[in-house]
Amino acid sequence: MAQATELLDSGERLDVAELRALQLERLRASLRHAYENVPFYRESFDKAGVRPEDCRSLADLSLFPFTSKADLRENYPYGMFAVPRERIRRIHASSGTTGRPTVVGYTDDDLSMWADMVARSLRAAGARPGDTVHVAYGYGLFTGGLGAHYGAERLGCTVVPASGGMTARQVQLIQDLEPRIIMVTPSYMLTLLDEFERQGVDPRSTSLRVGVFGAEPWTEEMRREIEERFGIDAVDIYGLSEVIGPGVAQECVETKDGLHIWEDHFYPEVVDPITGEVLPEGAEGELVFTSLTKQAMPVVRYRTRDLTRLLPGTARVFRRMEKITGRSDDMVILRGVNLFPTQIEEIVLRTPGVAPHFQLRLTREGRLDALTVRAEARPGTGPAAREAAARSITAAVKDGIGVSVAVEIVEPESLERSVGKIRRIVDLRS
Ligand code: DLL
Repeated sequence: MAQATELLDSGERLDVAELRALQLERLRASLRHAYENVPFYRESFDKAGVRPEDCRSLADLSLFPFTSKADLRENYPYGMFAVPRERIRRIHASSGTTGRPTVVGYTDDDLSMWADMVARSLRAAGARPGDTVHVAYGYGLFTGGLGAHYGAERLGCTVVPASGGMTARQVQLIQDLEPRIIMVTPSYMLTLLDEFERQGVDPRSTSLRVGVFGAEPWTEEMRREIEERFGIDAVDIYGLSEVIGPGVAQECVETKDGLHIWEDHFYPEVVDPITGEVLPEGAEGELVFTSLTKQAMPVVRYRTRDLTRLLPGTARVFRRMEKITGRSDDMVILRGVNLFPTQIEEIVLRTPGVAPHFQLRLTREGRLDALTVRAEARPGTGPAAREAAARSITAAVKDGIGVSVAVEIVEPESLERSVGKIRRIVDLRS
């Protein structure tokens, strides 16, 4: 079911030929902007022997060098900016687990484009002007809260800027202010679920109808769990601060078939993570973005480390990306077998008697790494059912992923709860 065209913005109404022409025009301008205004890009293009004018077709983008997170760190804080500091209206930063944060900047026009893209995302999620939107992404240097906020305002919604944390109060606000839409990480939505139950409120009884979940990987099993427990539609929103923040890609509520990339502003490629070779549509690899309209901090072939595949458009003209499997950084290599937390999530959420809360503990036994899956029992699950659950998870990991892990079923409510992005892996190896 396509959306009524009067609800689409002008970018969404382009046909494929018009879109490709617009992308090429914008790409050439953006490469020129980066080359002329950011010494880092001038040097890296020169070193690779390419000039912006060498980009004559979209495929020519592959001639240009990649940009990595390390490049952004080395140019901390303002080295990647392409406009004078006075034109920067806002700064965000991603914390990063180690070392310097990555600082990103926005001009007035960048902030406006970002708000447009989040408004477009919300509309695709099923939000409409006049809806109340509860934003429980963190506000601050993280792009989640403010990004969602201005996009919801741009669409014409009433925004409740709840931010993350103070979980009991969030439940109160949802009951009193009656939002139709919630924007939050999927893991924090589960924390809210526990709190509804603790307060004796039926989570299906609220005014919420749509959840817009992102900032971390989550699976179809998690979608089913959240949709059933809350009685809502759960859709996926993707983004990263280096590209803009939330609103780079969004799943449409009418199809729920992966995320349409707003590629009139963010040009995607999927490359082989090892060789860097551009992969054909449909092949899985690392997602790479080139900004097409950003002023303050253009990015050229930025390596996201996120693993997915590109698919043709359905509900929109834009190409889709499949739900993200994981980040190459989160991949655990266990006795030669690659494993992502999302694979464990699928298994844990399918196992009867187990709550959707789990953690992965990495330890070293002698010279071998070992992984323990710690999953919470659902309240009322007795010892025999817990043992059966542990056996079933062990067998499913062995059969499905091909590696042996230990499984511990722990007490209800004993694992740490998320208030934002959840940390699945606890590395105790060093
Ligand atoms: O997480 C921006 C965001 C905020 C997106 C709110 C969606 C909602 P960063 O903190 O820079 O920005 O982290 C970006 O988070 O490279 C992915 O690894 C991961 N990520 C973001 N959205 C998704 C998603 C924000 N829908 C990094 N599915 C990205 C899987 C996601 N991973």
